[in-house]
Amino acid sequence: MPQQRDFDVLIIGSGAAGLTLALHLGKRLRVCVIAKEEITEGATLYAQGGVSAVMDADDSVESHVEDTLRAGAGLCHRDVVESIVRHGREQITWLIGKGVPFTTVDTADGGQTVHLTREGGHSRRRVVHAADATGRAISTTLLDQVRAQGGITLFEHHIAIDLITTGKLGGTPDRCVGAYVLDKGAGQVLTLRAPWCVLATGGAGKVYLYTSNPDVATGDGIAMAWRAGCAVANMEFVQFHPTCLYHPQAKTFLLTEALRGEGGHLCLPSGERFMQRFDERLELAPRDIVARAIDYEMKRLGSDFVYLDISHRPADFIRSHFPTVHQKCLEYGIDITRQPIPVVPAAHYLCGGVVTDVAGRTSLPGLYAIGEVACTGLHGANRMASNSLLECLVTASAAAEAILAEQALVPALPVIPSWDESQVTDADEEVVVAHNWDELRRFMWDYVGIVRTTKRLERALRRVHLLRGEIGEFYANFRVTSDLIELRNLVQVAELIIRSAMKRKESRGLHYTLDYLERDDVNYARDTILRAGDFS
Ligand code: FAD
Ligand code: SIN
Repeated sequence: MPQQRDFDVLIIGSGAAGLTLALHLGKRLRVCVIAKEEITEGATLYAQGGVSAVMDADDSVESHVEDTLRAGAGLCHRDVVESIVRHGREQITWLIGKGVPFTTVDTADGGQTVHLTREGGHSRRRVVHAADATGRAISTTLLDQVRAQGGITLFEHHIAIDLITTGKLGGTPDRCVGAYVLDKGAGQVLTLRAPWCVLATGGAGKVYLYTSNPDVATGDGIAMAWRAGCAVANMEFVQFHPTCLYHPQAKTFLLTEALRGEGGHLCLPSGERFMQRFDERLELAPRDIVARAIDYEMKRLGSDFVYLDISHRPADFIRSHFPTVHQKCLEYGIDITRQPIPVVPAAHYLCGGVVTDVAGRTSLPGLYAIGEVACTGLHGANRMASNSLLECLVTASAAAEAILAEQALVPALPVIPSWDESQVTDADEEVVVAHNWDELRRFMWDYVGIVRTTKRLERALRRVHLLRGEIGEFYANFRVTSDLIELRNLVQVAELIIRSAMKRKESRGLHYTLDYLERDDVNYARDTILRAGDFS
């Protein structure tokens, strides 16, 4: 393959956000979508609970907006929440039109309608789902549609290394004009040139030792945008999902919040329920509260887990509503129709990210960011369940409109030098990369987790600096590999999380510190924004 390829739009990431955008633009523009693993791999594929949207006649946009604002603990941007929530029904209709097989129920007049489940923070049933494998249904349907539509170039096993900007090439005004991308199969670095680049790279759960996220969630988009000069916001708000399977042989597996929405209880090893001591909404309190309650009880009792129990519901109901969870737990010897499930919290979702508007525009012309990589203002200090897929869909559609509207302004693209490998050799000590990965993820879990202190954050920052030095040296001297690219990005994202957490001297939403236990609306009812040049 030639080392340089030109497109109108380069989309980095093939989850709900990236594929939705590709479908909207693919008939009009030359679109390329790249993914660093298989094209379907990403958080979207594993989403269980569903997509929140106002579908019921008894529900209202106002109610969805108010629930989102309450979960967001004072930091959601109301205008953004209203604008995203308002488009929920339209997005579900679009997905149904594309063929997503959402779970339905019969209506009184002999028709059918989507079944709505319930999750934490929502004051009513509002979550559209495909049993407990909603993400798989969306991801595979969108991919089938992209393939059927044709004309969209898909490169899997291609990992973006860095964005190319006119500023970095010595020109003005600054604009994103493409990306250097490693073709992992061929071991060759390509230049993909495009007047519009879109980061749809998902989250960064892999910065923590225990996470519900797939391996691709290494924060690459945030790190690339940061290096390109974009501002990031609210990186301290990392959401820990309360209930992931605890099993020595299991790689972390999520147990959907819908289990609690359909009546599941949290219990101590003694069988006693405990959420009544933390919140009147019990198991359906927002996630920050439930995860902290579990963390508190585990530490108090010295226990490795608590239990989630849905076995009091009829076995047929459990098997039909939660076939994926039922099957997965059976593989580990747990029959959820008869037994409680051992659970622990794990890093799940990054509420912060690259600062964008609702159409995904970043501060760098030519660069958009959509989906989990972005911080639009929807989630504030704590995302409400199932609002993420909604955001992916709405912002992708809005980004498509914005990019089409800018077509008259297509700039001439500069000549871009090929990736220079003349000064580097193959790495002699891959073990350094593996070791640094483990170290980073462990101290982030121990020092920058559900409960923080200033002392622990300072300790974590010192370690990040050491790692940054070592990785910088490695990056300068050795040929890039996928692991090295990801580690470099993870360390960058870890630093952004720690620095943001250190700036917020209060407890709010997902940021909870023993040194400042109270919420302080006088000084901190605002986003934490970091900009290039804020620190070296
Ligand atoms: P992803 O779907 O994560 O896709 C990221 C893409 O970027 C992948 O294609 C990846 O290969 C690519 N990529 C990343 N870096 C690079 C790079 N450097 N070069 C090339 N490609 C790259 N949210 C809900 O609203 N409802 C739910 O029920 C729900 N359940 C969840 C369950 C689980 C287990 C998890 C982990 C998350 C869940 N979430 C849920 C959150 C939601 O799934 C994600 O926030 C959302 O799917 C993110 O979509 P995305 O398109 O932004 O990114
Ligand atoms: C879940 O199914 O519990 C995950 C939902 C979400 O993260 O929004």
